[in-house]
Amino acid sequence: MTKGKNKVIHVLFVCLGNICRSPLAQGIFEKKIKELSIENMFYADSAGTSAAHEGSRPHSGSLQKAKKYGLFIENYHSRPVNMQDHFDFDFIIAMDSQNYDDLENFFQIPSSKLFKMRDFDLQEPSGDVPDPWGSGDSSFQIVYDILDRSIDKFIEYLKEKVI
Ligand code: 4NP
Repeated sequence: MTKGKNKVIHVLFVCLGNICRSPLAQGIFEKKIKELSIENMFYADSAGTSAAHEGSRPHSGSLQKAKKYGLFIENYHSRPVNMQDHFDFDFIIAMDSQNYDDLENFFQIPSSKLFKMRDFDLQEPSGDVPDPWGSGDSSFQIVYDILDRSIDKFIEYLKEKVI
């Protein structure tokens, strides 16, 4: 993608169920770009590699973190990834390696748009955002902390390379 183009940049965050990690990632990203007054340059969404929770609101563990950190995600609804997403989005950010592999297999296109969230985490760049499903509050806090610092770096990358 060429830097400085006057085009809204579309960012899709993807996990398995689209109820725990990716809605939180979307909410954190949206809050940060708003704080930086660059929200008009982006459109963000999230989706799941599975349709098992289609239509569901975010998990209570993620909603609690949203409340704690002032994010507005309660109206998000889970949806599965679809083929059109590959064309509609400029950046598709997988939460873990399994999500990444599933996306590659699903799209069947070698893609420079595909990233893993922790590609942007200086603390563990090859790691996964761990799945907190079925775990308690401390797991959601770990997810939040990883996302918070990874998304800071992702936005720095966008500012350097894209906007
Ligand atoms: P997420 O978490 O991928 O971060 O939304 C999960 C949600 C549901 C399931 C697994 C992970 N599940 O097996 O239903």
